Amino acid sequence: MKILITGADGQLGSELKISSRSSDDQFIFTDIEKFDITNKDMIESFLIKNRINLIINCASYTAVDRAEEEPELAKKINSFGTKNLSVISKNLSIPLIHFSTDFIFDGRKNIPYTEDDKGNPLSVYGATKLESEINVNKYSYRSIIIRTSWLYSTFGNNFVKTMIKLGNAKNLIKVISDQYGSPTYAKDLAESILKIINYEKSFAAKNNNSILFSDNVTKRHQIYHYSNEGIITWYEFAKAIMDIGNIDCEILPITTEEYKVLAKRPKYSVLDTKKIQRDYNMAIPFWKDSLKECIEKLNY
Ligand SMILES: NC(=O)c1ccc[n+]([C@@H]2O[C@H](COP(=O)([O-])OP(=O)(O)OC[C@H]3O[C@@H](n4cnc5c(N)ncnc54)[C@H](OP(=O)(O)O)[C@@H]3O)[C@@H](O)[C@H]2O)c1
Repeated sequence: MKILITGADGQLGSELKISSRSSDDQFIFTDIEKFDITNKDMIESFLIKNRINLIINCASYTAVDRAEEEPELAKKINSFGTKNLSVISKNLSIPLIHFSTDFIFDGRKNIPYTEDDKGNPLSVYGATKLESEINVNKYSYRSIIIRTSWLYSTFGNNFVKTMIKLGNAKNLIKVISDQYGSPTYAKDLAESILKIINYEKSFAAKNNNSILFSDNVTKRHQIYHYSNEGIITWYEFAKAIMDIGNIDCEILPITTEEYKVLAKRPKYSVLDTKKIQRDYNMAIPFWKDSLKECIEKLNY
């Protein structure tokens, strides 16, 4: 298969570059210069010319606070860009794997969110990602949407790298202790995507079918939740980063109200991951084990 990765210079795309090395499939990695999801002509000609069989859409506007100040740009990329990709790939019968976020939820629950829970975003970013989901479901050929949360990796900018930098520069950092969620190591997510592709390929082969996601004939569009196992606050996350990284910096717990940022975030955005574990027979690593692996890599 020829698999296109969009937004491949970001965290998840960079991890996919590494994980896919062991795959038999051919991966084509692009970012905005070669494949801009807001440019319809570029999308169509690229997909046809390269005879793409599957798209993994890692392209996204992900600056949560900045989105409050430039909502048009966030909407252009996350909502309209995803619509372009969905409509054109449907015309060419190409299935799509797309990513969304725990920030589509309002955080009023106190038990993990399932795939059937209704989105009610608190921020511009969350709203544009919910729109991206609606567009994928409405316009794409066949699709899997994977909602993930608190993504980090050795690549790009993320909470883990910011904490390490701040921890090395300061004696004390204040971190929010009343927002609950689950961190996700992008490497784990990348590996799970490859497992899904292999599972779908062997399912299609067993059924003498060349179409991916063909077991979902009546439900061609599936949503899944994927995050590492365990529920923590940003404060606990920061403490673990200092402990594992051997960084001598005190972490002080503060409330959401004490930390002024532009975008409102859900107080509780834990994702229930049972469906993806069951459907694809996959085990998800515990957050602290994955954090250790990432910090070891950063220190290496
Ligand atoms: N990061 C998180 O904490 C988090 C949490 C939950 C869900 N997610 C979701 O997980 C997915 C992957 O996130 P990530 O952290 O890997 O994102 P990321 O690091 O921000 O990567 C996104 C990539 O897409 C590129 N891009 C932006 N506009 C584009 C366009 N018009 N066409 C093509 N590429 C474009 C970005 O380029 P520039 O850098 O130049 O803009 C960047 O390289 C996203 O769908 C995100 O919403 C992320």
